[in-house]
Amino acid sequence: MYKDRDFGTPARSATQIVTLEIDGFKATVPAGTSILRAAATVGIEIPKLCATDSLEPFGSCRLCVVQIEGGRGMPASCTTPVAEGMKVVTQNQKLADVRRGVMELYISDHPLDCLTCASNGDCELQDMAGAVGLREVRYKPVTTHLNAESDHSNPYFSFDPSKCIVCSRCVRACEEIQGTFALTLDGRGFASTVSPGQNQAFMDSECVSCGACVQACPTATLMEKEVIAQGQPEHAIITTCAYCGVGCSFKAEMKGEQVIRMVPHKDGKANHGHSCVKGRFAFGYATHKDRMVKPMIRRSIKDPWQPVSWQEAIEYAASEIKRIQAKYGKDSVGGITSSRCTNEETYLVQKLIRAGFGNNNVDTCARVCHSPTGYGLKRTFGESSGTQDFDSVMAAEVIIVMGANPTDGHPVFGSLLKKRLREGAKLIVIDPREIDLVKTPHVQAAYHLKLRPGTNVAMITALAYVVVTENLIDEEFVKTRCDVASFEKWRNFIIQEHHSPEVSEAITGVPAVLVREAARLYATVNNGAIYYGLGVTEHSQGSTTVMGVANLAMATGNLGRNGVGVNPLRGQNNVQGSCDMGSFPHEFPGYRHVSNPETRQLFEQAWQVNLAAEPGLRIPNMFEAALEGSFKALYCEGEDIAQSDPDTHHVHAALQAMECVIVQDIFLNETAKFAHVFLPGASFLEKTGTFTNAERRISPVRQVMRPLAGYADWEITQLLSNALGYPMNYSHPSQIMDEIAALTPSFQGVSYEKIDQMGSIQWPCNQDYPEGTPIMHTEQFLRDDGKGLFMLTEYVATTEKVTAMFPLILTTGRILSQYNVGAQTRRTANVAWHSEDRLEIHPQDAEDRGIVNNDWVGIKSRAGETVLRALVTERVQPGVVYTTFHFPESGANVITTDNSDWATNCPEYKVTAVQVTKVYALSEWQQHYADFSQQQMELLAQSVE
Ligand code: SF4
Ligand code: SF4
Ligand code: SF4
Ligand code: FES
Repeated sequence: MYKDRDFGTPARSATQIVTLEIDGFKATVPAGTSILRAAATVGIEIPKLCATDSLEPFGSCRLCVVQIEGGRGMPASCTTPVAEGMKVVTQNQKLADVRRGVMELYISDHPLDCLTCASNGDCELQDMAGAVGLREVRYKPVTTHLNAESDHSNPYFSFDPSKCIVCSRCVRACEEIQGTFALTLDGRGFASTVSPGQNQAFMDSECVSCGACVQACPTATLMEKEVIAQGQPEHAIITTCAYCGVGCSFKAEMKGEQVIRMVPHKDGKANHGHSCVKGRFAFGYATHKDRMVKPMIRRSIKDPWQPVSWQEAIEYAASEIKRIQAKYGKDSVGGITSSRCTNEETYLVQKLIRAGFGNNNVDTCARVCHSPTGYGLKRTFGESSGTQDFDSVMAAEVIIVMGANPTDGHPVFGSLLKKRLREGAKLIVIDPREIDLVKTPHVQAAYHLKLRPGTNVAMITALAYVVVTENLIDEEFVKTRCDVASFEKWRNFIIQEHHSPEVSEAITGVPAVLVREAARLYATVNNGAIYYGLGVTEHSQGSTTVMGVANLAMATGNLGRNGVGVNPLRGQNNVQGSCDMGSFPHEFPGYRHVSNPETRQLFEQAWQVNLAAEPGLRIPNMFEAALEGSFKALYCEGEDIAQSDPDTHHVHAALQAMECVIVQDIFLNETAKFAHVFLPGASFLEKTGTFTNAERRISPVRQVMRPLAGYADWEITQLLSNALGYPMNYSHPSQIMDEIAALTPSFQGVSYEKIDQMGSIQWPCNQDYPEGTPIMHTEQFLRDDGKGLFMLTEYVATTEKVTAMFPLILTTGRILSQYNVGAQTRRTANVAWHSEDRLEIHPQDAEDRGIVNNDWVGIKSRAGETVLRALVTERVQPGVVYTTFHFPESGANVITTDNSDWATNCPEYKVTAVQVTKVYALSEWQQHYADFSQQQMELLAQSVE
């Protein structure tokens, strides 16, 4: 049976161990464990309905009653904790009678349509009727719920209250696991019902469609529509979500090669059985009609596509690369790896470029999000990654969330964070916009430092000023764990008056008193943790802010143990992995510089080829070189630079200037509209490999169906490499991982065998840490001298300033239901929640411009202009406007500029000076885009004909 076992109540961890006797068997469990769970551990299944091990016990159904020697009555075993020497009886006639009576009551108000019910075979009510030996139902209630109306409003699941047994598992799941509190239990006794708000449909309620209630429901009341339509799955394969950097583990429940549902895996260490709407439900894109399954070529982007065999496509691509290199030189070609593909695939692409193309012109989409994290944390801590596992947040007392929106961007971690906040941890939000976490059920941020976009460095330095000047430094930590000379220099730098909250107020717009109080709060608890996102990195001073965050954590001793740390929330599923795998032009896998002769020699020996010692081109430099005429061909795997990179005009012009653009993707994306070779890739369901999430956790991705186009992406790269004359002969991705492990010290102990054994592994995993590393820098930092290095972080204002012409600042972000460029989520029912990007504008700014909700507004920057519908809201502060960027026709990146982080070229997406006006027509760019897209679709249609 592929279903997880349910122990009835959650596991308890306690130092005290209790031994008791259940039906004559000895059970030894931690104190606080329920009798129900203790029985399950020795193989005794006490009937239950309202209890499940993902939720705290509730004790409402009374099916789990037991008798305790010397005790009175029949207590519920789910709510009764074990005691030393206790003797429990779980089965006798009296107990059986009570249980049968309970079941009779339930069944008397239940439609007896088991044979045609979608849950048939997967229904706990049905199982319990069998377990208690129910043979007849004596009660005939006058009123029943059998005619209660179903709610089908949610695109993914149905709610049929006629089957509800009011066990409240759904209500508790929504509260305890998801933290949304969308469901209520109304009325008492027989009249009680569950609902998503009075007379409200699920789609009109607060529900965020995470699926936790569906997962918890023991009957067919809350049920996936796909199961209703297709029937029960018959086998399951464990794999990892391909959306965000949380890296949730899932069981793909299948019928043959068809995915029926994705069920969050209880043993998944990143998600512990929870999910969000994307991973749980939005997987239909994998078999969407838009999937490209035939390789295609064309000489010019004005020509129709020509479908060809794989061999022809690969030979054509290789011949073009060879032709271009012969004509324009070795360095005229390059490639882009994908943070959505597996580690093994990313490793192979950079290997192809370095060894096959013979240059280091490789870059990754991670450039445009977290490259400042790599730079900043490497400089300060010696390693380019977050310091904690997600579970660490449960030990934090104060949590800073800076430039991140976890409930939308990293929803499962967002739920865990909310749980910790409901337990009493304090929250400091540093964000220009009022993200949901600022005020959500039972959670209220202690401080929301609503800073002006682009002023992060001034803010983080002002917080440090308070820590230093008010003697809140953890002197012992600094003395023993950090580079003291750098600390002294930093201390002298920080105490300069212009770093004080009072002076910084003019820059950040945040009252000094709030900054002082927030700094004290963070610095005076035992465990302070910082979580940050792209609101920190995607700035002209992104790397500086990351170093500022690291300084603050070191100065307060908030590193190296559970409950603390510096934690970048990675955007895409494998951003961490693509960086680890050597996707940047200056680094081999494991962040080792290409100019280092020893490292190079290691790779030259393994790869049997001479390697270039000079760093290659970054993505923006590739574009520049293309426009100058020296960069002519690009191999782009699983990345849509034409939509995702800033300054769209510039990117499109650069792509048009190239002679051969090879796109490998599952859809004909925006970049493919500029391509000459299209290689149809595979979705995560069609391949085997690994993803590395934001906690450095390497998790298995396992093929659940065959690649629709015939090959997994690593196989396509291998074909291309062989056609270019650089041989690759892997027959399974595990061999690629073995090579990675042999060449990368932090992966040395990683193998498929170990991943299968442990479920997942957090790197570093080597002889020093054979089981991996949940928390980093526990004894010393990973810099050569083992000490944390303080860096100076002077605030330099971005050149992107508001002017009379562009008086507002535009900042961007993601929304829960959509994902990045939207290529996947736009092809799912998630569009029911977000079918277009809107411009959030403060009522005051809207009124000044005569704009009301839903008006079309033009957003103009020095880079370009686009048009969106307005959403007038106080979530944004006056002077700031905000939009998401999930739809290509929105052209959010038409307006973003080519400004970038000084150290890493990460684009300054979060700060663009704009003017907003009411308009009545699409922008010129949008009209051009519509025409161009139309042409490309016609060229595609012609080729299909
Ligand atoms: S799907 Fe999630 S958010 Fe919606 S009601 Fe169920 S548990 Fe709550
Ligand atoms: S909907 Fe399901 S989980 Fe919720 S109370 Fe009814 S039976 Fe229980
Ligand atoms: S939180 Fe992220 S990894 Fe988890 S299910 Fe949602 S999108 Fe997937
Ligand atoms: S399972 Fe214990 S009371 Fe319901």
